[in-house]
Amino acid sequence: PEESGVNDKGELTIGGVSVRALADEFGTPLHIFDEHGLRRQMRSLVQGLRERWPNSEVLFASKSMPIVAVYAIAASEGMSIDVAGLGELRLAIEAGVPGDRIYMHGNAKSDEEIALAVAHGVGTVIIDGTDDIARLDAALAVGQTQRILLRVIPNIDADTHATQATGGETSKFGVTFDQIAEIAKLVSHNSKIELVGLHVHIGSQILETEPFAEAVRRVTSLGEFPVYDVGGGLGVNYTPTDHAPTVEEYLDAVVAAARGLLPADTKLIIEPGRSTVARAGVTAYSVVTTKQTGRRFVAINGGMADHLDTALTGQQYSPILADRPTAMPDTIAQLVGRQCESGDLFVDNAHLPHPQIGDIVVLAATGAYAYTLTNNYNGALRPAVVFVGGGEARLAVERESLDDLLRLHRVAAEHDWSTQ
Ligand code: LLP
Repeated sequence: PEESGVNDKGELTIGGVSVRALADEFGTPLHIFDEHGLRRQMRSLVQGLRERWPNSEVLFASKSMPIVAVYAIAASEGMSIDVAGLGELRLAIEAGVPGDRIYMHGNAKSDEEIALAVAHGVGTVIIDGTDDIARLDAALAVGQTQRILLRVIPNIDADTHATQATGGETSKFGVTFDQIAEIAKLVSHNSKIELVGLHVHIGSQILETEPFAEAVRRVTSLGEFPVYDVGGGLGVNYTPTDHAPTVEEYLDAVVAAARGLLPADTKLIIEPGRSTVARAGVTAYSVVTTKQTGRRFVAINGGMADHLDTALTGQQYSPILADRPTAMPDTIAQLVGRQCESGDLFVDNAHLPHPQIGDIVVLAATGAYAYTLTNNYNGALRPAVVFVGGGEARLAVERESLDDLLRLHRVAAEHDWSTQ
């Protein structure tokens, strides 16, 4: 993160707080967010787009880090919020996000989700097909209206991992170009539903700007709507050798494509998730064991239960040790987790300076798609999340406890499962 440094003990600091001290106070695995860096990044997206295209809105794609603290910070920095279902909607409501700044996504929205969206006055629902329209119609009372965007498949295969691509013609999200007219006609007969524009999203961790420009050109060629939402997807740097476009380069490309094609009073929306939060967050783990077999292994106290990314997308990271962040690496090892899967790998061929039991391993740029994908595999407990800034730490999400793990289970006292 931006606000990282080294203190007089030689320890890594974030937001003026020693990572070692955070690990001692809050335990590991621990998600640490640099609050000032996060706010600065949010502002650069919101103000950067507004400077280039005044009638614009930046939605935080909250699936990338859906916690109450981040919803509240995003809203306070002028972002609106993209929620993809009941749980994210509930968290956004809890954070105090006004309904008119919430956009609801989902390719399989339930009656319950649509009902809560309508009841909370969600400003815009992104429609994935005709079933959504029927559900909305049923949920809306006579005289009530709901703005919608229609999600269309842009037919762009951005160069990204297969699990992150959403824009190709076989995508499960959205409708095809030739279905737009029919759906627009269907909606035009319905006084409760107002189709204001189109939505596309071409994928995630995209490391060039041209696919975004192409998405803008394609979607703006389809009719003349007051609103175009061109989704998220801007990639970020995970290792020192990555070269993602900057926010400015990305916004320049999107807006350059929109200029000339869209009237200036058209509303332009983007939905950055990863590029909003990824680089503001790091995760701290403790080394549990090291060994040399056919290979050298360093095992830390997390795994694919709290860090699914490497297993899912093959994303690479450059780990550092919190107590000696600048020491020269002398060891090449498989940095692995504690889940019972061979694919439970953090870093293939990690370079570390003499890693030992008790060392704190820090993975940078884990602010997006890390905490949100945590699970209880092997009975793992979800890590805590802290925010740091100005030398202070604030707990944002508590660590899951064994009681939390047991809470949903009907235990022996209630039913004896051991006999029939
Ligand atoms: N809008 C829509 C409709 C989306 O589906 C997504 C991400 C975004 C915006 C935000 O995209 P971003 O700016 O974060 O790239 N699990 C994968 C990433 C999945 C992305 C899901 N959709 C991973 O860990 O890489």
